[in-house]
Amino acid sequence: MAALTAIVLTVFALTICNADAADATTGQVTYVFGDSMAEVGNNNYLPNALAKSNYPWYGVDYIKGQPTGRFTNGRTVGDIMSAKLGVPSPPPFLSLSMNDDAILKGVNYASGGAGILNETGLYFIQKLSFYDQITCFEKTKAAIVRKIGKESAEELCNEAIYFIGLGSNDYVNNFLQPFMADGQQYTHDEFVGLVITTLDGQLRRLYDLGARKVVFHGLGPLGCIPSQRVKSRNGQCLHVVNNYVTEFNARVKDLLDGLNNKLPGAQMAFADSYSIVMDLINNPQNYGFKISHTSCCNVDSVIGGLCSPNSKLCANRSEFVFWDAYHTSDAANQVIADRLFSDRADVGRAPSPAPLLGPAASPGPAPSPL
Ligand SMILES: *[C@@H]1O[C@H](CO)[C@@H](O)[C@H](O)[C@H]1NC(C)=O
Ligand SMILES: *[C@@H]1O[C@H](CO)[C@@H](O)[C@H](O)[C@H]1NC(C)=O
Repeated sequence: MAALTAIVLTVFALTICNADAADATTGQVTYVFGDSMAEVGNNNYLPNALAKSNYPWYGVDYIKGQPTGRFTNGRTVGDIMSAKLGVPSPPPFLSLSMNDDAILKGVNYASGGAGILNETGLYFIQKLSFYDQITCFEKTKAAIVRKIGKESAEELCNEAIYFIGLGSNDYVNNFLQPFMADGQQYTHDEFVGLVITTLDGQLRRLYDLGARKVVFHGLGPLGCIPSQRVKSRNGQCLHVVNNYVTEFNARVKDLLDGLNNKLPGAQMAFADSYSIVMDLINNPQNYGFKISHTSCCNVDSVIGGLCSPNSKLCANRSEFVFWDAYHTSDAANQVIADRLFSDRADVGRAPSPAPLLGPAASPGPAPSPL
């Protein structure tokens, strides 16, 4: 784990030093792939998407206090990481025209309800699965080639950082859902094998499109998110679920190591948010929080688990680790981003290939969108 962290940090450092990417752009270019923990508004553009958060009280602590499509009261971990990198948080893909010069600076493809597997979250009707998100990046790349030419486009894509945060929904909105086939059909060993094989293909597809510096955000302790705790007898964490997550994270690390060995120039790093989020949950007072077992808008056992316009909010949103039954609060996201960023900074000593930090940490939803 230390070694992986070191890799992450080193990649980050390399990236910062070489931040001269292609032409016109200044600042680190980032392309973000993910689920509701990283979404910044794509699903608002999908008329039939059920996983949406563009209503109060989402965004109550964001700029202007307005909902944006982010699944939290304020900023995502990705927003905070972008600020730390000194660049604006990339806009949602579906808000952009491919003529827009913004595509040269970074794009966010994340979509609530998305998973690594195509079938994950299918009951949200419309969303951008990871497969779809890569297809959107493929279109972005073609537009970049039209704008700045093939050679500069290759350079830009090679120098960009690709943040990926997916997998929570493959558990919460697939394997752990009794009405979804995968949990019936597969043992966990088989399921995690399927997810990892699928991810392998997707990361190779991104590599073929020019991605070299990839940061994969591992899963947080999903067994401890409010929507999972309510399934236990006394509101405790579901250890079985946390064990699944731990295995998934380990398998992803192995996959990234293997790809770094096989694919020339690949610098794929794993950003571990599991321990950070677990520590926040176990020792909230150490970080200035008071409550970590239940959500600010008190929707733990509500179907969907999202805050609603009728929700009665907690008195002090900074005291809660969880905003709704799946998603961490703005205050918690700040702590998570700070930790990921400082882990990165430690890295100076271990030389290694790979990218930098990562974003989102935390939980995902259950019968609901994440
Ligand atoms: C996922 O969906 C895409 C597009 O619908 C399809 O081309 C691809 O083969 C699917 N992947 C798997 C593993 O079924
Ligand atoms: C809310 O909680 C935070 C963190 O404990 C604390 O710093 C702040 O003073 C509180 N705000 C109010 C209005 O009580």
